[in-house]
Amino acid sequence: MNQRVSMVLRGRDVISILDLERGELERLFEEADLMLRALEEGRRLRLLEGYVMATAFFEPSTRTKLSFQAAMLRLGGAYIDLPPEHASSRAKGENLADTIRMLDSYADVIVIRHRLEGAARFAAEVAEHPVINGGDGTRDHPTQAMIDLYTIRRALGHVDGLAVGVLGDLRYGRAARSFILGLTLYRPKKLYLISPPQLSCRREVLEKLEERGVDYEEVASLDKVVSELDVLYVTRIQRERFPDPVEYEKVRGSYRVTGESLKGAKENLVILHPLPRVDELAFDVDATRHAWYFRQARFGVPIRMALLKLVLRG
Ligand code: NCD
Repeated sequence: MNQRVSMVLRGRDVISILDLERGELERLFEEADLMLRALEEGRRLRLLEGYVMATAFFEPSTRTKLSFQAAMLRLGGAYIDLPPEHASSRAKGENLADTIRMLDSYADVIVIRHRLEGAARFAAEVAEHPVINGGDGTRDHPTQAMIDLYTIRRALGHVDGLAVGVLGDLRYGRAARSFILGLTLYRPKKLYLISPPQLSCRREVLEKLEERGVDYEEVASLDKVVSELDVLYVTRIQRERFPDPVEYEKVRGSYRVTGESLKGAKENLVILHPLPRVDELAFDVDATRHAWYFRQARFGVPIRMALLKLVLRG
């Protein structure tokens, strides 16, 4: 709905992580710290009492949808949820614009996930109320990037000056893409893009890194760089997004992080993963001090609480 007004998130759509400036992200993180403290102390918050959020997820989701809903409930608000296709009017052929118009008239904010790139932007053009992108195709997943950057900040105190590796499906993964774009708001020392050639980062993202002066290097395997990393972001191969199943078979199982592959890693290496994992991250890593991914998933609630509060109330 609204165009951006610097430093004020109230009423704004959140479609891409680059819709925010660094100062706005920092503001969000401070708010998330307060939310996290309240959650840990078991304090009940009523900041969004009387507000309604609509979740419209046209693709599978566990963390994103449930943590948005939990965030709203934790703030004293309520949510309505678009039923799956067979149980909603989409089964009767209703189009996306009309569906969004309806949700817009029932709720104060809409969170949408869709398999098509650009669907969230489209919804934002249709809706009067703010629209938050919960993932659109291979493109953006801004709230995941917020959680990722917040987790690094909690684990290591800062993002600037770190050596960060992003491993896996950099081609089809919206979480990886959004995280990489989010890093351009900071000054990492070095960014390693680690993937088999078929899953390498898209040109347009590399151009953004160049434009924003992020020093990056594309490498084919983790072992060459593992000892240098402060952060390793692991991602799943996005099987469902491959145009051809044969192409998926060619890269399936092409990388896997195990306790063994982390032998040369720094003591404080932080491993992140947006989850769900399949076989790219072995269970034996869970018991190491590097495993931050379950805490990362938990931070989804305070981050989304902070975002909803700022978008709805400022
Ligand atoms: C991600 C997604 O849906 O893009 N999951 C998430 O929201 N945490 C990553 C994935 O599906 O691999």
